[in-house]
Amino acid sequence: MQINKILVVGAGAMGSQIGMVCALAGYQVTIQDVAADMLAAARSQLTDRMDSSVVKGRRSRQDAEAALARLTFTTSLEAGAADVDFVIEAATEKLEVKRSIFAALGRAAPEHAILATNSSTLGSSKVAEETGRPQQVCNMHFFNPALVMKCVEVVRHGKTSPDTVDTTMKLARSLGKSPVLIDREIPGFVANRLMGAIRDEALRLYADGIASVSDIDTAAKTALGHPMGPFELMDLVGLDVSYLIRQATFEETQDPADLPHPALKELYEQGNYGRKTAHGWYRYDQSGTRIQ
Ligand code: CAA
Repeated sequence: MQINKILVVGAGAMGSQIGMVCALAGYQVTIQDVAADMLAAARSQLTDRMDSSVVKGRRSRQDAEAALARLTFTTSLEAGAADVDFVIEAATEKLEVKRSIFAALGRAAPEHAILATNSSTLGSSKVAEETGRPQQVCNMHFFNPALVMKCVEVVRHGKTSPDTVDTTMKLARSLGKSPVLIDREIPGFVANRLMGAIRDEALRLYADGIASVSDIDTAAKTALGHPMGPFELMDLVGLDVSYLIRQATFEETQDPADLPHPALKELYEQGNYGRKTAHGWYRYDQSGTRIQ
């Protein structure tokens, strides 16, 4: 299947960067969000990122401008979906929100279009039936920051067709990513399960008073060679995202061991989501630089 036009639903950190990745690879991209201010912020952040990549010599001014020109922004899901070949949904990690988005996509997107979700926890089987085309639904899960991280998890559910898997894997490769195929839905898929094991241990070490947040992060970087420590990573991804992923996992497994850690819950309930609110495990100034 030939892909020309892609719709990305959701203009948050993930959706906006996924849209940019697709535009850089030459696709026509629409980014849709119900909130016009999110779209404006996404446009301005992506323009800044492209400017800085030009200044660093990563790409030519002409290529950056051409990629930005391939991006369109809209608040209308129906308008955005009207003539697309592929949809990547990157809205909030709430099942009810995703269900209504996929029902609307099923009505508005052309029959041939594949409808993928970037969800890291909710397997696409949870939304597939809403679309009327469950065989064309799968997870296409990117990692934060999507402009940089190479991994994309392609997760099939019981009814995903081989053509859908094949097209999604090919699309990921065409974006310069290294897709991994996950043959069965499992909470957290693969990468988040690996990361979760480290994060949970880090939270335990901190909550038990064994070491400070910054010393645990330092050990992960200097002993294990990780680019970021687990607390820095939670601040990057967003404590709201980490919390909601954990909550969704618990709702699926009903295993109390999967509940969000109380220290994470506390920060979440205070509205301290990490870099995006300038306060999480660490504090940040307006430019996003860590100050504490
Ligand atoms: N958005 C886009 N690009 C970013 C970025 C951001 N938020 N932060 C850094 N970059 C880019 C920089 O522009 C730079 O690009 P160039 O090489 O073109 O100059 C490059 O990344 C390296 O940046 P820095 O030199 O400033 O800093 P760094 O070397 O420490 O790298 C990092 C930053 C790429 C984020 C690195 O620390 C890293 O890989 N961290 C781990 C990230 C990770 O584990 N992500 C997975 C999160 S889990 C997830 O996403 C799953 C989920 O379901 C929630």
